[in-house]
Amino acid sequence: MAGTITITISRSIRNLFLLIFATVLLITFYRSATSTSTSLSTSYLLPSSWQNPSTTSGGDIPEDIANLIPAERELALKQYEYANNMQPYFPPNPHWGGGREDYKFHSDVELRKLAVCTATNTCRENQTNVIILGYIHAHFHIYEGYMGGEGIWTHSLVDTLEKWGYTILHARDDWPYMHYLHNQIPDMVKAIIAWRTGQYGTFDDQVKTHGRGNGIPAWKFFVYNYFPDHYTSTVGDAWNIHSEFGYSKKPRNFTFIPYVVEPATTPPYTPAITRPYQVYILAKYVRYFYPGAQPAWEDRGIFLRAKDILEKEFPGFEFVVGCKDDRNAAQQKEIPMEVPAGVRNLGQMDRLEFERQLANSRAMLGIGWPTISPSPHVALSLGIPFINPYSMNPGSKKDDPESWAQSQHHTLKVLPPPHIYNVLRNNETEFVDAIRQALLHPIEPFILPIMTREYHEKQISEWLHTDWRSKAEAILEDRKKGIETQNGKEVKLFEL
Ligand SMILES: *[C@@H]1O[C@H](CO)[C@@H](O)[C@H](O)[C@H]1NC(C)=O
Ligand SMILES: *[C@@H]1O[C@H](CO)[C@@H](O)[C@H](O)[C@H]1NC(C)=O
Ligand SMILES: *[C@@H]1O[C@H](CO)[C@@H](O)[C@H](O)[C@H]1NC(C)=O
Repeated sequence: MAGTITITISRSIRNLFLLIFATVLLITFYRSATSTSTSLSTSYLLPSSWQNPSTTSGGDIPEDIANLIPAERELALKQYEYANNMQPYFPPNPHWGGGREDYKFHSDVELRKLAVCTATNTCRENQTNVIILGYIHAHFHIYEGYMGGEGIWTHSLVDTLEKWGYTILHARDDWPYMHYLHNQIPDMVKAIIAWRTGQYGTFDDQVKTHGRGNGIPAWKFFVYNYFPDHYTSTVGDAWNIHSEFGYSKKPRNFTFIPYVVEPATTPPYTPAITRPYQVYILAKYVRYFYPGAQPAWEDRGIFLRAKDILEKEFPGFEFVVGCKDDRNAAQQKEIPMEVPAGVRNLGQMDRLEFERQLANSRAMLGIGWPTISPSPHVALSLGIPFINPYSMNPGSKKDDPESWAQSQHHTLKVLPPPHIYNVLRNNETEFVDAIRQALLHPIEPFILPIMTREYHEKQISEWLHTDWRSKAEAILEDRKKGIETQNGKEVKLFEL
C-alpha cells in the first residue's frame, strides 16, 4: 500500500490563489501587450472528448491493459486470466430483469478481483486502494450517461483513478450498502465520495460512533458538491470536495478537484478571424429566456435591437442558440414561449453539429442560467470569450467581484477582458458594448490553469496522499477542547 505524505491544505489553497492571481496578471499583460443555489449544476457543452466510451482493441486483451507500463501489464494480464477462468461460474452480464442492482454487480466484480489479486500476489500498484463513489450523479453518469457538471467531473475523476489503477466501487447513493462494502475491506477503503443523504438512509445512520464500532469513520467520508463553498462535513472544511473553485479573496480550505478542460483540437477549432460574426447564446431550454429562470435580459426586445446596431458594424452578425421547449404540452399551451426576435434557433443538435456551431462562433453570451456551468470554460478553450451577466447589491462595487450579489460564472468572473466580459444584468449599453468588444478582440484558445489535466491530476494525487486520519485527529483534539477551526453547521465530535 502506498505510503502517505501529509500536505498542508492551507498552503495548497494559497498556491492556488497565487496561480489565479498570476493568471489574471498574465492576461492583463497579454491584453495590454497586444492591445488589439444551489441545486444541481446543468451544462450544455459536451465536447466529444468528455464522452468517448473507453475503447477496446477488438483483440482478446483490452486496450487499457495493453497500454500499461510493463510491470503493471504483467500483473494485469495474470488477473485477466484468472477472471477468464472464473467467467463460467460468474457470468459477466447477468440478467437483472430490469432491476437496479447494476452498481452492486460492478462492486462485486471489483471485490472478486481484489480477492484474487491478494490471494495470488498479483495486485497492481494502486489496486488495493479503494475509492467508493456514493453520490447519485456518479450513478447517473455511469449508468445513464448524465453529462451535467457533476457528470463531467465524475468522468474526469474516474478516468484518472482508472489510469492509476485504483479500485473504484459503485454504491449509488445507498448508505447501508456503503457500510456493507466498507466493512468487508475496511483497511483498503481510502475514501467515500458521497452526499450526506441518500435514497436508503443517511451517513448519520452508518457513521462510526462509540456504540457503532464497525461504522464508517467520519474522516473517510468526503462530501461532494459541484459548487464551491458548501460546508457540510462532520469533520471539517477539507472534507468538502468541489469541482469549481469559485472566487473569494479570503483563502478557503475545501478540497478543490477540477474536471479537465481539454485543449481545442482541429476540427472543431478554427481561428477566430475565420469565423462569421456569430454570438452563441448559452441556453439549452427556451424557458431560460423567460421569467421563472430569472433571465439576465428581462426585456427580450434587447436581442433584436442589439442585432440592428451590431449588423451595421459586423456584416452578417447573428445571435444563435440551440434550444428546445422542454415543458409539457399543457404548460406550452398555457404560456407559449418563443426564442426572442433577432435570435436564430438552430434547434436541438447532435453533439458534433453542436460543437461545430459553437466553434464557429466569436463569443458566448450568458443569459443568467445555468450558473457555473462547464460551457464557458469550453468556450474559452475554443478561443471564444464569455459574456458573464452579474448583479449588484446596494453596497456592491463594480470593480470588486466579491461584493457583487450574483453572477453567472462565479469562477470566471475574476478574469478581465478580452476573455471574460462582466456585464450588469439588464444594462443594454453594457450588453451591446461587451459584444462589440468581444467581436473586435479575438482571443487564442485559453484554459484556466486550475482546469487543466495537469492540475486536476496534481489535486487528485494530493488528495490521495494526504493522511486524513491524522488531520482529523488534530481537528478533533481541538474540538474536544472547545476550539473550533472548521466551518459549517454539521461539524461535531466523531470517532476516529
Ligand atoms: C499510483 O497512483 C499514483 C497517484 O497516487 C500515481 O502517481 C502512480 O502513477 C500510480 N501508479 C501506476 C502504476 O499507475
Ligand atoms: C483555512 O485554514 C487556515 C489555516 O488553518 C485558517 O487560518 C483559515 O482561517 C481557514 N479559512 C477559513 C475560511 O476558515
Ligand atoms: C448601464 O451601464 C452604463 C455603462 O457602464 C452606465 O453608464 C449606466 O449608468 C448603466 N445604467 C444603469 C441603469 O445601471
